[in-house]
Amino acid sequence: MDTRPPLSPRDIAAAERVAATGIDEAMIERLVRTFYGRIRDDSLLGPVFGAAIADWEPHLRKMMDFWSSVALYTERYDGRPMPAHVRLPIGPEHFERWLALFAATTAEVCPPAAAAFFNDRARTIARSLLMGVEFMKGGGAGPAR
Ligand code: HEM
Repeated sequence: MDTRPPLSPRDIAAAERVAATGIDEAMIERLVRTFYGRIRDDSLLGPVFGAAIADWEPHLRKMMDFWSSVALYTERYDGRPMPAHVRLPIGPEHFERWLALFAATTAEVCPPAAAAFFNDRARTIARSLLMGVEFMKGGGAGPAR
């Protein structure tokens, strides 16, 4: 008799994601460290992050937890990205640059299927964050115009 505990739906989904993309924690760490290294050197995004983040290592750890939760269903990230972004001085041009740098980094440090997955998720989340940012600029929770 097989006495192993049954696989949860999350375990199965994670195993399928790994099989389809090859994503693992080491790839996520490489992606996050390379990406934020570039962000810090970027003339448009570097100053925004520099003003908001004094100690980078906790931010990098948080972003590894975030991508691990998104890609591998580990549930290590339980924060709320929206409030962290609506208070930043950012608009569409920042999101475009962020996505361009992210795509250049995934192309470099990930195999194609993993890069496609990360880019797809990043674009979806960026769209939703940008909508929140623009909504707050327009007066936030006021009546819809
Ligand atoms: C315009 C582009 C972006 C800029 C300038 C930006 C900047 C920042 C900054 C400065 C923080 C730290 C906030 C703080 O600690 O107070 C942060 C946090 C975070 N960002 Fe972004 N971000 C951008 C786009 C994105 C995108 C596209 C994603 C997801 C794909 C993302 C995911 C996150 C997450 C998960 C956090 C952690 C929030 C928390 O729980 O504290 N960001 N971002």
